[in-house]
Amino acid sequence: MKTAATAEALAACRGVSVTYGRGEAAVHALDGVDLELEPRERLALLGRSGSGKTTLLHVLGGLVEPTLGTVEWRGRPLSSLDAAARGALRAHGIAYVFQGANLLPHFTAFENVAFAAQVAGRDLDAALAPAALLELVGLSAKLDHLPSELSGGEGQRVALARALAQGPELLLCDEPTGHLDSDTGERVLDLVEALHAEYGFTLVVATHDVDVAARWERLVEVHDGRVVGGRAA
Ligand SMILES: Nc1ncnc2c1ncn2[C@@H]1O[C@H](COP(=O)(O)OP(=O)(O)O)[C@@H](O)[C@H]1O
Ligand SMILES: [Mg+2]
Repeated sequence: MKTAATAEALAACRGVSVTYGRGEAAVHALDGVDLELEPRERLALLGRSGSGKTTLLHVLGGLVEPTLGTVEWRGRPLSSLDAAARGALRAHGIAYVFQGANLLPHFTAFENVAFAAQVAGRDLDAALAPAALLELVGLSAKLDHLPSELSGGEGQRVALARALAQGPELLLCDEPTGHLDSDTGERVLDLVEALHAEYGFTLVVATHDVDVAARWERLVEVHDGRVVGGRAA
């Protein structure tokens, strides 16, 4: 059967609202968000602290269920996927890089990456082997270091290698340079850019920093849980 000629979104939010808590304590974190992510595109989510960026990443990644609306993966509502399909999506469809690297503290850099590869069901002898990934991010000399023995920038690079070990189609980066000085942050973003060029995943970078947002072709602004689309030049 021929595939449809129209480009299908990799992931999409359709009328997504998220409310945390209820009654007096309710917080409307997202309010009617429509967003489509195309395969391979690079997109910045720009907004102030508390605007809803992290919630939007969590909804896209299936970590938070919308209160209203639908999240789709390749045109299918996430809620219609069975447990196996959702598991596969989490294991190797979607990867996260968090603001702090969020590495497992008692595992070395190598083990952090290898563990992610194993969870994703990837063959450790494949081209994306943990040691090769850590070499790619410039950490060959630190395979046996624990997270506490790495600098902030090195930790973020391990987190990137770990995300890549999943072989993701969608990479969600939440304030990836938030804890780094500007030079180190710049180098981490250069690396993200190079890895995108090599692997061609869809990239979403949430940030409150206009300079970080300006690096990517598409800019989506988040204000009080609503998105304002638009493409930056
Ligand atoms: N688990 C939660 N419970 C209650 N409120 C939350 C929770 N997570 C986020 N919020 C609130 O939702 C709003 C959006 O937060 P968030 O998505 O973290 O924004 P951002 O990442 O842009 O800082 C904020 O008002 C925040 O305080
Ligand atoms: Mg956030």
